[in-house]
Amino acid sequence: TDLVKRVDAYLKEHLSKKSKRTNGIPANSFSRTSSTSSMATDEGLLEQPELPAASKTALDNILWQRSLQLRERQDYWEKSVEGQRMLECRRCLPAYKQRDVVLSAISQNQVIVVSGETGCGKTTQIPQFILESEIEANRGALCSIICTQPRKISAMSVSERVACERGEPLGESVGYKVRLEGVRGRDTRLLFCTTGILLRRLLVDRSLRGVTHVIVDEIHERGMNEDFLLIILKDLLPRRPELKLILMSATLDAELFSSYFGGAGVIHIPGFTYPVGSYFLEDILEMSRYRLTPYNQIDDYGQERLWKMNKQIPRKRKSQIASVVEDALRAADFKEFSPETRVSLSCWNPDCIGFNLIESLLCHICENERPGGILVFMTGWDDISSLKDKLQIHPIFSDPNRVMLLACHGSMASFEQRLIFEEPASGVRKIVLATNIAETSITINDVAFVIDCGKAKETSYDALNNTPCLLPSWISKVSAQQRRGRAGRVQPGQCYHLYPKCLYDAFAEYQLPEILRTPLQSLCLQIKSLNFGTISEFLSRALQSPELLAVQKAIEYLKTIGALDENEQLTALGRYLAKLPMEPKLGKMLILGAILGCLDTILTVAAGLSVRDPFLTPLDKKDLAEAAKSQFSRDHSDHLALVRAYEGYKRAEEEAGVYDYCWKNFLSIQSMRAVDSLRKEFFSLLKDTGLIDGTPATCKSGGNDENLTRAVICYGLYPGICSVVHNERAFSLKTMEDGQVLLYSNSVNARETKIPYPWLVFNEKIKVNSIFVRDSTAVSDSVLILFGGSVSKGDFDGHLKMLGGYLDFFMKPAVAEMYQTLKKELDELIQSKLLNPKMDIQAHRD
Ligand code: CDP
Ligand code: MG
Repeated sequence: TDLVKRVDAYLKEHLSKKSKRTNGIPANSFSRTSSTSSMATDEGLLEQPELPAASKTALDNILWQRSLQLRERQDYWEKSVEGQRMLECRRCLPAYKQRDVVLSAISQNQVIVVSGETGCGKTTQIPQFILESEIEANRGALCSIICTQPRKISAMSVSERVACERGEPLGESVGYKVRLEGVRGRDTRLLFCTTGILLRRLLVDRSLRGVTHVIVDEIHERGMNEDFLLIILKDLLPRRPELKLILMSATLDAELFSSYFGGAGVIHIPGFTYPVGSYFLEDILEMSRYRLTPYNQIDDYGQERLWKMNKQIPRKRKSQIASVVEDALRAADFKEFSPETRVSLSCWNPDCIGFNLIESLLCHICENERPGGILVFMTGWDDISSLKDKLQIHPIFSDPNRVMLLACHGSMASFEQRLIFEEPASGVRKIVLATNIAETSITINDVAFVIDCGKAKETSYDALNNTPCLLPSWISKVSAQQRRGRAGRVQPGQCYHLYPKCLYDAFAEYQLPEILRTPLQSLCLQIKSLNFGTISEFLSRALQSPELLAVQKAIEYLKTIGALDENEQLTALGRYLAKLPMEPKLGKMLILGAILGCLDTILTVAAGLSVRDPFLTPLDKKDLAEAAKSQFSRDHSDHLALVRAYEGYKRAEEEAGVYDYCWKNFLSIQSMRAVDSLRKEFFSLLKDTGLIDGTPATCKSGGNDENLTRAVICYGLYPGICSVVHNERAFSLKTMEDGQVLLYSNSVNARETKIPYPWLVFNEKIKVNSIFVRDSTAVSDSVLILFGGSVSKGDFDGHLKMLGGYLDFFMKPAVAEMYQTLKKELDELIQSKLLNPKMDIQAHRD
């Protein structure tokens, strides 16, 4: 810091003298990143103001001076003792050996693709090579390098690392920008940001003025945002011939990207890894008979969760899994296992029997194996925190003199992030519980053992609903190999796969690109808001284009919910939805909630729909759990039941009794915490759109009117609607497209014999053997007509026919007319609020 301060003071003084001499342009008037203005807006990323021609020479002079200073400083650092030591470390990385190759390829090509083993130094070194070489060539002040990361946490941790390697605090020549957060300054020349941030920048500046290099990292992941960005960049390159594009990937599919950009140069960084032995489930269980003591606990644990799981996995999938595992067991000749164990294993799911197995494996490694860190790949944050809770009361893992237990996932605090890279004291073993974030984007040094549960949460396309769902699913072979590879970076390693070998053989080779497996609604909104013309034409230019049918379905859905008009143009509502990075139905709900002053409740509803079901039903206490849930449900709505449960949770929090509260009411504390943090996130996202001023009071101005909440839920979930048809003893449900549907058994409505409302709006449909609907809220005719579709468009014809009796009621011209007038007024009200967010609609609300 002392060094930095000295250099800084020197530069400031030097610069102010120079700028005074050259006709008095204040030092920061030419800077591309004025820290005050660019910090203020999320989109403002390295913006360059236009300069009057007269000051061009003066400007050139200043930029030249500044470049010299950057160089002076870089030289200073490189010659210092610290700097030398850092350089030594960097020289050991395989990427460093390719420094000249990479730099000359960049100077000769507009686009290059760099691939190399994870951990070889792509992310930390290549952007740095470019920056260093620009500074060496006295162009430091002229360059502006943007490096995108798919995840927020990698942008943050990598920028910190690079700044440290350059002997600077973050925010000088290196900075980062992620949503709602960022550190960068006037002199920031290398910026790490999430892909989403660069896309937002493109919204205001289509040609990326002032940017000299764009580096898109982790393209092998084929995330939706990255594929989207590549289409835009491909379009931009001919218009910006001096802009350089560098694509970086961990696996060897470089050819695909190279040919997409018309044969871009490819550089492969050869890496070195030690051999890694791999063990599959059958080996682990076999081994456990001799060495892993508590293996027999698999029995109870498997049994306990078996029933829950039975309900969750569709039958076909289950029989597929069962048969592969059966085969594996036969092959491994597990005749010694009891029939019960065989049953639980035959419905094998690492989530279910995984925890005990992981715990015994960890014990085994800690007690019998040589030193080396352990990396455990799990599905998500909730699993990680449950396992961490469980391990923290274990005698080995709770002992800080033996074990350093850490978590690594997308939403952790930054001090926790730093610990991951730290070396533990000698004799202490580092154990990191991670999501697939540690697969390629974050490299944890000194790992020698990997435990791989075989699953990752991935967004998948649910054709039935046309909505994305984030569910744990089996990983691909490439991912499994990546995970295994993490064990061999510093010494020969071992990898334990918690699934049978034959299941591994059945894994897909690669994971499908996100653009082909998720619904395209949000992407379509983005394309429209960026003014990229016809959606289908734009998407046909993708690396791998989605099916036309999927595109049409997405457009149709967006028209139904009123985000696009008949001519495929964004409506006012659509423009807001495009700004909200979440499913459009949640965005729509939040927007109306904000307009009608019931945002506080709707925030809970929307957050609740995005987390794992907080209502737990342990098999042996099913009745008690149902009774607990029923205290929250009085009004035929799962959504409102969640709202009540959450209100109770907040009250319990004030009295420091959340554990008790959750325990008594069979609520998952992890889900409740997740609701809490998502509420905050949704709120700040909404504030960003300018629709609310951000004071909590306005969120409740509509009072606690339950009917209002119902209406807003309906507004969001439409067209997810079914009609309730009562017969003598019970009721049945029908939707227009599927005919009869059933209620998911844990719905509060499933326990009723009568529902005093004619309709249920629901969040999603699940096809098992019949079609089930999940999370429903009962609504009245008026609510449906006013907040769902419209009578005049004939949206209800099908529903009305199903209802028979109600037909007459709506077909009475006077009634239909009245509803039409009311609906028109409501639509106009919402519309005018969207066009003029400052408008006070309190007066009209009734
Ligand atoms: O991008 P790639 O996977 O090729 O490697 P990298 O992220 O550039 O990492 C290169 C080296 O820097 C690894 O040994 C990491 O452990 C180390 N690194 C670190 O110590 N701290 C960070 N925040 C990031 C990387
Ligand atoms: Mg990387």
